[in-house]
Amino acid sequence: MTTGSLLVADLVLAVLTAAGWLGGGAAAAARRRPLALGLAAVALLATLGRALTVIALARAGWWFAAEKVLIAAPLSLAAVVVAGPRLLRAAGDLRSVAVPLLFAGYAVSGALLVTILHGYPASASVGLLAVAGVGTAAAVSWRFLARPSRTVSRAATVVTVAALLAGTGLAVATDAAPAVPHDHGYPQLRTTDEPTRRFTLTAGTARVNVGGRDVAAWAFNAQVPGPELTATVGDVVEVTLHNRDIGRGVTLHWHGYDVPNSQDGVPGVTQAAVLPGQEFVYRFRADQAGTYWYHTHAVSDVGVRMGLYGVLVVRPGPTTGLDVTVPVHTLAGRPLPPARVERVEAGVPVRLRLINTDNTTHRYALAGAAFRVAAIDGSDLRGPTPLADTAVLIPAGGRYDLVFTAPASPVALFVDGRVVYSTGEVSTATGGWPVLDPLTYGVPAPVPWARFDRKFTLVLDRGLDLRGLLPRYAHTVNGAADPDIPPQVVRRGDVVRFTIVNRSQTVHPWHLHGHHVLVLSRTRKAAIGSPLWLDSFDVRPGEVWEVAFRADNPGMWANHCHNLGHADAGMTLHLMYS
Ligand code: C2O
Ligand code: CU
Repeated sequence: MTTGSLLVADLVLAVLTAAGWLGGGAAAAARRRPLALGLAAVALLATLGRALTVIALARAGWWFAAEKVLIAAPLSLAAVVVAGPRLLRAAGDLRSVAVPLLFAGYAVSGALLVTILHGYPASASVGLLAVAGVGTAAAVSWRFLARPSRTVSRAATVVTVAALLAGTGLAVATDAAPAVPHDHGYPQLRTTDEPTRRFTLTAGTARVNVGGRDVAAWAFNAQVPGPELTATVGDVVEVTLHNRDIGRGVTLHWHGYDVPNSQDGVPGVTQAAVLPGQEFVYRFRADQAGTYWYHTHAVSDVGVRMGLYGVLVVRPGPTTGLDVTVPVHTLAGRPLPPARVERVEAGVPVRLRLINTDNTTHRYALAGAAFRVAAIDGSDLRGPTPLADTAVLIPAGGRYDLVFTAPASPVALFVDGRVVYSTGEVSTATGGWPVLDPLTYGVPAPVPWARFDRKFTLVLDRGLDLRGLLPRYAHTVNGAADPDIPPQVVRRGDVVRFTIVNRSQTVHPWHLHGHHVLVLSRTRKAAIGSPLWLDSFDVRPGEVWEVAFRADNPGMWANHCHNLGHADAGMTLHLMYS
């Protein structure tokens, strides 16, 4: 069983346990003896099952099991100890065990709420608050269903109140996260007189045609995607951004391009958002070849989805053959780009630059030719071998360059089963093809560092964020949501290792600005293929990724989930140079 499915199984068992105890308690109160016994038996069995899932999760990594071991296990044990013996002793009328059964139900539900609302890391304050909640609920039931003795009810009240006070106190005391210094003075880049590629992008609302239908969009130069920006290594790229009428502001972020921090386009961090009527000039030297893209980073979730993105390709020099970019996007529920058919003569070298600009993973399948994955996220792979009848999964924000020599027969590229590019009619079912694992593809090279100066762990989860004006169910990192997640602080020259753990039920495509990270391992399996220098990678439920990089690009860098809805709902933090 994968850790992802263990997480699901554990959640299901926890719900069953809680439902069994609570239902059993209600049935006992209603004198439905067989029902009460049956439900209590379900709860006991599910508790046993959970012992197994929690042990397995703890073995997969403490992050997956911390609050289950520290909070759920003791509460479940208390539930069994309180309800079990009384159930066995009670003859005939089960009404006397209604309260113990309900107590068991509250205990398990309390622990379940800790998992759902708080997650990782488990803290004493959360544990105490859970105990207080369970105590209160049990006391209320007790008053209504039984007549407690004075001393017992006093003792219970004291425990509950003490837990509540201690828990709240601890929560308040540990709440002050160091905030990221936002809205500082933004440094400007000096201009130079080197060979310069100049572009102008004007952002504005527009109506564009997708699949024969006119839809409302936000567009650069009235087109979705925006104009394709191309350069040759060594050029200076200068892009003037105008905002005509995007009320919430626009910026340009060069996704995967490790530009100087002042050109990174993150509003509130590297610049102010460009408001209607304003402009901003970006300049950077194109010294990395490869496939990249640009997009707005102001209200990025809405802005990118509405169409404010485009392709950036930097070529090492003059190229031969066919070079095609395929930026995949979903606009107003419809897929882009439209299918393109092109006659290609046999023997022509072809490079397909696949770009996923959506929020979720896409599956790409090239039928009709053996191909190699020449580059991922702009970096060339070492010794890529020919592949046939194999699909690739590209995470949100990610890019794969596929190269092949055009055969005499037609070739087609499928994205999630739809043809987006072809050289003729191809009818191949690609749905059953195996998927390439880039961690085992190509020829390895030794990791360039022997030790790490800094190590950070990011645990991705969901939880209740109470720090804002209104509580919200956020996507969290280490139990906090943006802007309350402390930044990772590094010094220039440090070799930094990130361990990224996903204990949630959804995929999180991770994206660090300003740096490419080298993949060391995924879920304890070392990367054994070509060195993989990525800027976007899917951390699936239950996975643990270890990646490393040299801190060589000073500044304040966004580090976030590229499911931009998640990023806007809390899953954004920063890498900061001291
Ligand atoms: Cu492509 Cu911060 O994003
Ligand atoms: Cu995410």
